[in-house]
Amino acid sequence: MPALIPQRSLFDEFTVGQHRLQHRIVLAPMTRTRADPATLAPTPEVALYYSQRASPGGLLITEAIHISPEATPTWNIYAAVREGGGTVSGLWTPQQVAGWRTVTAAVHARGGLISCQLLHAGRVAQPGIGEHPLVAGSGAPLPSVSSSASAMLPEGEAGDYHWDQPAALPRALETDEIARVISDYTQAARNAVQAGFDFIELHAAHGYLVDQFLCDGINRRTDRYGGSRENRCRFLFETVAALVEVAGAGRVGVRLSPTPADPVTGRPYQTYFGALASDADALYQQAVVGLNAFPLAYLMLTEPRVGGLSVEPEADQAHRHPLRNRQYRELFQGTCIGVGGFTPVSAQLAVDEGSYDLIAFGRQFLANPDLPERIREGLPLNRYDRTTFYGGGAKGYTDYPTRQ
Ligand SMILES: Cc1cc2nc3c(=O)[nH]c(=O)nc-3n(C[C@H](O)[C@H](O)[C@H](O)COP(=O)(O)O)c2cc1C
Repeated sequence: MPALIPQRSLFDEFTVGQHRLQHRIVLAPMTRTRADPATLAPTPEVALYYSQRASPGGLLITEAIHISPEATPTWNIYAAVREGGGTVSGLWTPQQVAGWRTVTAAVHARGGLISCQLLHAGRVAQPGIGEHPLVAGSGAPLPSVSSSASAMLPEGEAGDYHWDQPAALPRALETDEIARVISDYTQAARNAVQAGFDFIELHAAHGYLVDQFLCDGINRRTDRYGGSRENRCRFLFETVAALVEVAGAGRVGVRLSPTPADPVTGRPYQTYFGALASDADALYQQAVVGLNAFPLAYLMLTEPRVGGLSVEPEADQAHRHPLRNRQYRELFQGTCIGVGGFTPVSAQLAVDEGSYDLIAFGRQFLANPDLPERIREGLPLNRYDRTTFYGGGAKGYTDYPTRQ
């Protein structure tokens, strides 16, 4: 079937940092829990998954990769993942670095580029990770940490994610411990450079550790990392500065998930793991403006419209909701990636009207390894199978067909 509208600008070249992209379609970061259960390192199957989605001059962003044992969710209270038997990946052991090197090599062999998403999950990481043989006895500081000792509530806050046990109470990081957490990020960034990644992305979105500092619904600190917006943004900016120092100009990206409120109801369109800010508009504006001070490769903004968790792709009507991040995008002076609920047509419109420079696709790219080619040619897309999003096997991971 031919494309209904000209797909031209999605296929215009674009420069990010030192690299020239040949199209604007990016693989969104997606945790797929296919790491080796013993080593938390990527397997050959993981390298195959990313190489299938690589294209000449196309940018892929990895799943969230955990910077340290303390940063790592066990997912053992996250029923959907536990039933799938999957494991998240890390980047703190030599074996993990070697595993990621095979992934970057496979992507580069196809002419693609790859960014490494670094995550500290903060209070979303559960202390059960301490039982993992790789972590037990490592002396890693456990249980989980956050800006303040405030746990997610199983109902409402974490309920959408099907947590079936109460989340553990995190320990509030001491002021003089924050430099240690930042050095965990920079060590992981050094490891990422060694593993051959083209970019490093700080996952500062979705209610994980950085967001737990930004949001005053969680952050109750009275030191220089809490209270005013300037103080709550401090951890973000110090971490970004440290990552730029390690990786260099034009090699660091940041993901943020602003939570603007519906002007009618006053309620945010979307919240993540219970991360709420009383001053969300001003907070995320300040964060975005502050990021202009750094020579970033890109800023990725999550549109607050990720739709439902239904197993039926057709039930997800997120793409019908308008874009809400314009106020933030306009404040950012660099390259901006939009993500969340895009279709090929709405992605094209968003690039044409200047809402975003690049568009990241999650579920559609997961199910369509050759998504850029399919969009270019206006071909139909495979349906995604949510039941295999997380888990341990090749099914729903590396077996989606390319176009005939
Ligand atoms: C299976 C799955 C895992 C995800 N894991 C991550 C992740 O590790 N890091 C992240 O920043 N976002 C993650 N996301 C969110 C996606 O990056 C993206 O924002 C979301 O899928 C919405 O985009 P889409 O409508 O194109 O699917 C995940 C999404 C899915 C479906």
